[in-house]
Amino acid sequence: MTALTILPQGITFEATPGMSLLAAIKAAGVALMTKCEGQGKCGACHLFVQEGRKGISKIQRTENEMLDTIVGVGSKSRLACQATLGEEPVTVELLGFKSGV
Ligand code: FES
Repeated sequence: MTALTILPQGITFEATPGMSLLAAIKAAGVALMTKCEGQGKCGACHLFVQEGRKGISKIQRTENEMLDTIVGVGSKSRLACQATLGEEPVTVELLGFKSGV
């Protein structure tokens, strides 16, 4: 299991490696409203990975192209539906209404 800490809620959830961040966040009981249901097309699941970036999957083309269209993207930005957990603990910061297109 991998510890996923979700900010600003401060919730830590034991997730299974290989889960998407989106699936793990939902499994932790945190609502994350999306429009494309995890297909990497809406940008609503944009978040910042504050710790453990090296432990999650690399950015692929679909995610990269979507991130290019989102205002406020930084070096810690990921799409929760496209990034999958590895074995290392991860801390993410949800951006709420400041994110998405
Ligand atoms: S859920 Fe739409 S881009 Fe991730």
